[in-house]
Amino acid sequence: GLLLNENGGPWVAQRARTRRNRKSQGMRDMCAENIVTPANFIYPLFIHTKDYNEAIGSMPGCERHSVDSALKEVAEAYKLGIRSVIIFPKIPDELKTNAADECYNPNGLVPQVIMRIKDKFPEVAVWTDVALDPYSDQGHDGMVSDDSRGDGGFARILNDETIEQLCRQALCQARAGADVVAPSDMMDGRVGALRDALDAHGHTEVSIVSYTAKYASAYYGPFRDALDSAPRESSRAPRNKKTYQMNPANSKEALIEAHLDVAEGADMLMVKPGMPYLDIVRLLRDNTSLPISVYHVSGEYAMMKAAAERGWIDEKEVVLEAMLCFKRAGANAILTYYAKQAAQWLNE
Ligand code: PBG
Repeated sequence: GLLLNENGGPWVAQRARTRRNRKSQGMRDMCAENIVTPANFIYPLFIHTKDYNEAIGSMPGCERHSVDSALKEVAEAYKLGIRSVIIFPKIPDELKTNAADECYNPNGLVPQVIMRIKDKFPEVAVWTDVALDPYSDQGHDGMVSDDSRGDGGFARILNDETIEQLCRQALCQARAGADVVAPSDMMDGRVGALRDALDAHGHTEVSIVSYTAKYASAYYGPFRDALDSAPRESSRAPRNKKTYQMNPANSKEALIEAHLDVAEGADMLMVKPGMPYLDIVRLLRDNTSLPISVYHVSGEYAMMKAAAERGWIDEKEVVLEAMLCFKRAGANAILTYYAKQAAQWLNE
């Protein structure tokens, strides 16, 4: 006869039981659409010129590393399966200028660290950030024009003059052995200019990961503490980066940026920040074919750390869930201050 369910209705509704695929860890793992491994991570390291480490108040667990300590970090990360690191320098104030010329000093902090890492760990991909802010006495990613007059008045970040400096910076990093240069400055046309400059000097193998969709975000606060790189009160330009970083209100604009970066020769695209911008990761995934990385930024890290310290969240579970969600949204690679810790958890 007719099979009826317990309410006297047809069985149809209960024939599909999606929970069957969740009934055991083995079934869940088998059916998983996404997986995170330590090789997906890019591990950021703050470095400075001192021979000891300094804690960073708003980023518990992160430090400004001495060069020796940075090498130790790379060794530990490598052992955990991480294959990429990115270095961010804290530059002493006396070396900062508007033109940021220290950014291409071949004996500067960044080239030194790159050489040390590549010498000891040739298989580790060393990434660098390409932008002027750590070297700028204005705290901006680009050069500030002389006729700028602060927030209320006329302010200009000089696009093409900045690009010349960025090319010098990237060449200096490439000469030191950088595998990947990652322009985070958001000047127009920098990817194409960097590609041309690198190729013209024989660095055809150096990759460009473009910070394609980098938003003018309040989530970068702790990073700017770490490097003392925030736009300065004394700057002639506004104390924000809204004339070059993207408006958080926009997503179509991210597609314009992505198409330009593809045309200009980027090897990988990046979305930044991460968790509030997963829609942008998905948008780029569905509309381009290059690998995509996502930057889980300092403010996101600080929020998780703060809640975890209070015992309000399970840090390990929350962090690994966030990493998995980056993959689900369409990211291949994840730049996160949790890289080492997350790799440890994944290896448990
Ligand atoms: C520099 C740069 C910034 C970050 C990465 N590269 C700061 C900024 O744009 O002001 C932020 C990263 C983070 O918050 O973790 N151009």
